[in-house]
Amino acid sequence: MIDAKIIDAAWRELKQSVVYFRGNPVGTVAARDPSAAELNYSQCFTRDFAVSALAFLMRGETDIVRNFLTVLVKLQSREKQMNCFKAGRGLMPASFTVQQSKNGEELVPDFGERAIARVAPVDSGFWWLILLRAYVQASGDVDLARKAEFQQAIKMIVELSLVARFDMYPTLLVPDGGYMIDRRMGVYGYPLDIQSLFFTALSAAQELLVGDETCLAAVADRLAHLAYHIRRYYWLDLRRLNAIYRYKVEEYGQNIVNEFNIYPETIPPALVDWMPSKGGYFAGNLGPARMDFRYFAQGNLLAVVSSLATAEQSQSIMDLIAQRWDDLIGQMPLKLCFPALEGRDWAIVTGSDPKNSPWSYHNGGSWPFLLWLLAAAAQMTGRTELAKRALETAADRLMVEDWSEYFDGREGRLLGKEARRFQSWTVAGFLSAQQLLANPTHLNLLRYDEKALQGCIQPTEGGGGN
Ligand code: GLC
Repeated sequence: MIDAKIIDAAWRELKQSVVYFRGNPVGTVAARDPSAAELNYSQCFTRDFAVSALAFLMRGETDIVRNFLTVLVKLQSREKQMNCFKAGRGLMPASFTVQQSKNGEELVPDFGERAIARVAPVDSGFWWLILLRAYVQASGDVDLARKAEFQQAIKMIVELSLVARFDMYPTLLVPDGGYMIDRRMGVYGYPLDIQSLFFTALSAAQELLVGDETCLAAVADRLAHLAYHIRRYYWLDLRRLNAIYRYKVEEYGQNIVNEFNIYPETIPPALVDWMPSKGGYFAGNLGPARMDFRYFAQGNLLAVVSSLATAEQSQSIMDLIAQRWDDLIGQMPLKLCFPALEGRDWAIVTGSDPKNSPWSYHNGGSWPFLLWLLAAAAQMTGRTELAKRALETAADRLMVEDWSEYFDGREGRLLGKEARRFQSWTVAGFLSAQQLLANPTHLNLLRYDEKALQGCIQPTEGGGGN
């Protein structure tokens, strides 16, 4: 049982983080830590607010979410420029802030043109779509999504992400740092975290878009291919690992087994011992001769919640978490990715980034905001005991440590080296998880009807990944 005092304290914190624009609540700041350097934590981040929004929606406070959704439609890129080069039409901002001008308050978005390393947010539009759908579920206000400017916004996001480029995978090709992991971490290419978001967002678009049959057909087609690709090629368990271990390489033609030319030598030896006999997960990334064997929490858990994972795969992911508890949950949930990059791998892949040193921050640090996703995945699979245990592990310490942004060390025993205190999505992740576990019907905000996928997800051609 979570102490009611902690829950009350968390709500007080979240309320204090609310951002107002012309008198209306429109979002939450990323953090309210007076002792830390400012950077851009006083802004409202799209991905961070998504977690706050879920907490508010579950409590029946829908206005702030409606306002946020409306603000983002206004800010969505139509002609935003970076170094005189236009950001993709349809891009949603990574963050925005409210500034005083001669004419009163105005909203100033950041599409990555001021962000550290100038990373553009691939995920913002996806979170907006996921949130719009959750808002409609919670409030019953379908009319908002039907408004012409909202339909236009949905279409622009879909068009931006479905545009044909140079590659022929159904997965989305992205640069490094385009989402929650907004630094160089080897998550360029086809990272799982983005693919799960892409899939979930397309599922939302499929429900919300009306009338445009061409666009809807393109969405349905992509959903099916994406599910097929991820379920089949990203999946890792002992059986798959053994198959990869015995792969032949340099195969050419249609009916081959090792389609992506993965070299068995790239399997990390430690993984062979770490992979439990029961349990599995989706690999972190897959491209030509490249399989990233790291486990990423966000992509795997969102795959469970959105039904990108099959029911069987979802159970296996929860089995993995149960069996590798110390590594993936430890003393502070949840490990963002496992294992950490160390030594030369760290130097090459992160560009010697000291903030992402081994077992810190994005590189094997623990992020309590992810608790909501664990709770949702646990409800989805009937494994609520796992999420309850994680939430109870976290609750007292989160409050004592002032809702820290992240924790460091193999088991999350240390306070994150440069972590902000009073981080809004830490508070909101905790509150969303608590509400999801107390009332399973909240899952309706996040789960999707699998019917859309039926008939198209089964492999039709020969070959096979084994
Ligand atoms: C860090 C995180 C990013 C988050 C931001 C604000 O940059 O990597 O995911 O959105 O802080 O909390």
